[in-house]
Amino acid sequence: MGELLKLEGISLSFGGVNALLAVSAGVAEGKITAVIGPNGAGKTSLFNVISGFYRATGGAATYAGFDLLQKPSSARASLGIARTFQNIALFSGLSVIENIKLGAHAHLKANPATASLFLGGPAREEHELTAVIDRDILPALGLEDIRDRPVSGLPYGQQKRIELARAMVMRPRLLMLDEPFAGMPPTEKHRMAGAIRSFVASGAVTALLIDHDMETVMGLCDHIVVLNFGKVIASGTPDAVRQHPDVIEAYLGTG
Ligand SMILES: Nc1ncnc2c1ncn2[C@@H]1O[C@H](COP(=O)(O)OP(=O)(O)O)[C@@H](O)[C@H]1O
Ligand SMILES: [Mg+2]
Repeated sequence: MGELLKLEGISLSFGGVNALLAVSAGVAEGKITAVIGPNGAGKTSLFNVISGFYRATGGAATYAGFDLLQKPSSARASLGIARTFQNIALFSGLSVIENIKLGAHAHLKANPATASLFLGGPAREEHELTAVIDRDILPALGLEDIRDRPVSGLPYGQQKRIELARAMVMRPRLLMLDEPFAGMPPTEKHRMAGAIRSFVASGAVTALLIDHDMETVMGLCDHIVVLNFGKVIASGTPDAVRQHPDVIEAYLGTG
């Protein structure tokens, strides 16, 4: 299979700070690619460039044959690019199922008042959407038992799974997950990794995920891109990357 996303020389600067410096990387269709690197390496910035939240200062990106950087972020969502955020961005007053349904509205703004307006919708569409969520998404993520609970007060790991569910509801072609395992105990990590793996194995989606820790993504990913100070310092299979001297050095002393 070919590359779904190809980044060539992507740069991004904030005033004098170079967050990304000529980043080139490919994301193979139907595979799991990870972007790893220490804190501040530019991982989230790269996601923001791909999703259109930030405008690259230089470089090019091709997604499914399109010149991605020419597309406004709303068009990128319509092209099947969905993401989760490093910091949980759920609507705490709404239930689990309501939060997940909101994922079907690609233009959703982070505003609970606007968000709840979307929940009405034409009854038929609403019904079909709910059926798909109940059948395909809640069981895959082990969320059926808490379907109608308000999101506030749910444990962190469950909230991260709800965010993944909300992204999957878009039926994305490219699923981007920003630190999906952060702050999780090992059992939760395994559960999350299993869910990502099964979504990708079902043939529906290509995954691009961020983590700061290499060991977490070792057994999960097909391909790893390592960023440090905004530059790609290594990329390849997990085994090749783990042994790369620059990667070892970048991780020394960062815990
Ligand atoms: N909106 C912003 N304004 C100014 N600097 C930013 C902004 N977003 C990120 N940066 C800077 O860009 C660099 C990379 O940040 P980030 O992409 O969040 O790293 P990571 O996700 O790898 O931890 C950091 O130096 C950060 O301070
Ligand atoms: Mg980040």
